[in-house]
Amino acid sequence: MSDAPIGVFDSGVGGLTVLRELLAALPCERFVYLGDTARLPYGTKSAETVARYACQAATALVGRGVKYLVVACNTASSVGLPAIRERVPGVPVIGVIEPGAQAACAASRSGHIAVIATEGTVRGGAYQQAILRCRRDARVSARAAPLFVALAEEGMCDGTIAREVARHYLEPLFGRPAGETPDTLVLGCTHFPLLAGPIRAVVGSDVAIVDSAATTARAVREALRAAGIERRSGNGSVTFLATDGRERFARVGGHFLGRDIDPREVELIDL
Ligand code: DGL
Repeated sequence: MSDAPIGVFDSGVGGLTVLRELLAALPCERFVYLGDTARLPYGTKSAETVARYACQAATALVGRGVKYLVVACNTASSVGLPAIRERVPGVPVIGVIEPGAQAACAASRSGHIAVIATEGTVRGGAYQQAILRCRRDARVSARAAPLFVALAEEGMCDGTIAREVARHYLEPLFGRPAGETPDTLVLGCTHFPLLAGPIRAVVGSDVAIVDSAATTARAVREALRAAGIERRSGNGSVTFLATDGRERFARVGGHFLGRDIDPREVELIDL
């Protein structure tokens, strides 16, 4: 069982920021990463559609014999987890929302937490609910920041445009009088860690920025250990699957993963 791979999926390449943390936390594991690039973005679609797509991706990964499933997409985690768990009852499933919400609650002194995410994630309210479950005195300000997704994919992660867009989304949350601003910001979308520079420039150095990728990777490691199914020796590996665009997956995905991806490493599949 411990030699079985871990399945990781996202709407596209964004979840590679989560895979990057998983590879660092679990270097001996075998991963199968699936990017549903034919149908991205998920963030602008209805909850029903995202849940249906996510179930199809989960089924494809379970078909490859995975021992554990990581929903490395905030939007799919936000609206699809119950449906996925129902679809693949034999495999444990974790999303990125709960670990991110817990990390934000631990980081916040005042309890005022801001979340930026896709439209679908903000509308679904999963971060807001997870934060309030963990900390009843919390106050959550959530805002959709869809242009960050396009900027990250275009590699425009710094410079005038990125800074202006960061100001546009974040000033309404952080440009208020002292005492009214959040002290913690959750990057509730796979793409946003790439824009950490301009985001930090707007929110200032006192705000804790929480990225759910690293906390999710730690939660996966703990869960595997607790279940006695961590792969503790041997070389780790990654198999890349995508539903469209091998070249684009490799080119854009390399920035998210932090290493080059050869298009020949990417297998195209249909869901
Ligand atoms: N991966 C998505 C998320 O984290 C962002 C991209 C999309 O909208 O599909 O919400």
